[in-house]
Amino acid sequence: MNNRDSSPSDLLVIFGITGDLARKMTFRALYRLERRNALDCPILGVAGRDITLEALIARARDAISESGESIDDAVFDRLAGRLSYLHGDVTGSALYASLAERIGTDRNPLFYLEMPPSLFAPIVENLGRAGLLERSRVALEKPFGHDLASARELNAQLHVVLREDQILRVDHFLGKQPVVELEYLRFANLAIAELWNRRSVSELHITMAEDFGVEDRGKFYDAVGALRDVVQNHLLQVLALVAMEPPVGPGDDDINDKKAEVFRAMPALDPAHYVRGQYRGYTDIPGVSKGSRTETFVALRMEIENWRWAGVPIFLRAGKALPEKVTEVRLFLRRTPALAFMPNRGAVEPNQIVLRIDPDPGMRLQLAALDTRGGARWRDVHLDSSLAQDLGEPIRPYERLLQGGLIGDRRLFAREDSIEETWRIVQPLLDSPGEIHPYEPGSWGPEAAHSLLRGHRSWQQPWLPGAGHVRD
Ligand code: BG6
Repeated sequence: MNNRDSSPSDLLVIFGITGDLARKMTFRALYRLERRNALDCPILGVAGRDITLEALIARARDAISESGESIDDAVFDRLAGRLSYLHGDVTGSALYASLAERIGTDRNPLFYLEMPPSLFAPIVENLGRAGLLERSRVALEKPFGHDLASARELNAQLHVVLREDQILRVDHFLGKQPVVELEYLRFANLAIAELWNRRSVSELHITMAEDFGVEDRGKFYDAVGALRDVVQNHLLQVLALVAMEPPVGPGDDDINDKKAEVFRAMPALDPAHYVRGQYRGYTDIPGVSKGSRTETFVALRMEIENWRWAGVPIFLRAGKALPEKVTEVRLFLRRTPALAFMPNRGAVEPNQIVLRIDPDPGMRLQLAALDTRGGARWRDVHLDSSLAQDLGEPIRPYERLLQGGLIGDRRLFAREDSIEETWRIVQPLLDSPGEIHPYEPGSWGPEAAHSLLRGHRSWQQPWLPGAGHVRD
């Protein structure tokens, strides 16, 4: 049993329902929840545009079919039947008076803010003033702050009117199936659990590669850069789940406590082990300032100074316009003793364990086998699993987060301390970003990213979906 004592939300209020995120993600997630009968509350959309409910329903339908779902009319009609709409200025008090009138006093709403972060505090303050927060939860989209000081300030502003257990800080990576599974894969399997520490692991690499550029998000991205966009949030959250100790119970804080311990054991990052890159052509993108020095690629080294991980270097790289779209965590195991019966002992590759997060989540164990055809040659063999093949089609991240948000499952959201710790960890790199290295689109980033690993395992070709089991 979880220690959650608050009731499920009986109303979902989405601020920004006419925005981009709703079009790309939210409507689809709601539709999928409706299809598996996992929705049972009305949905009130709030936004600035003066459109009719019919127009909103038409937008929802278009958004769902554009996202690739084939629409079952009966399911869609059920979803449409839940929708209502309120338009107004989210910074003025009139909207909140109408909202209070619509909602009444006997509801437990979930307010989901799909809004620019500068509006988070004003909206929450207005909700508080209108008396709408007592029995509510509030979910906030990323980004949460743009550095340590702003994240602290936003947390402080929220805490004036909300308790921590009412705040759900969204990080959609926490809704990805293999990220959720990590806790169980790691601690339900002795074969993995016994290897998962500094005695067996020599180093750890995380790669998040995207094979597309910044495209139409120039203005947003140029003010942010890769470190803030995906490292401070997504990849550090993943790392915490990779590295944490087993939670002591099923409660929301049990897992968040263990993640927080990982962050607290991580020294702030050292600019001397930080490489930034920018792909050629980036500054021609509309919205990007000429001469911009924003990074579209980062590679860095970090450490976790605790009993399990001390001395295991962790290398992380993330970038746009790289050759593949793939996110993986790779653990390199130590060498076995080279005993005399083994031919060509030096050529035995140490084992690797790969958790692929995207696409086609799965796990790979890379072993060394001796190929005795025509002499003796060590070869890699792979034990691969695909979570989709073994477990069926996964719940999508936003579907999981919306469902979790409605019941207040805070295991799926970032707690205050993890947000502030992760900003503390990256802050020195924001303060001293250092030089920016150009790289060709379609390459694996600047040469300096390779030099960062000197003396360690080099960056590996990620495990790609459909890649064969045996390589020459
Ligand atoms: C977002 C970033 O948070 O995550 C994007 O702003 C990035 O730049 C995206 O592309 C990646 O998410 P996913 O789910 O496609 O891996």
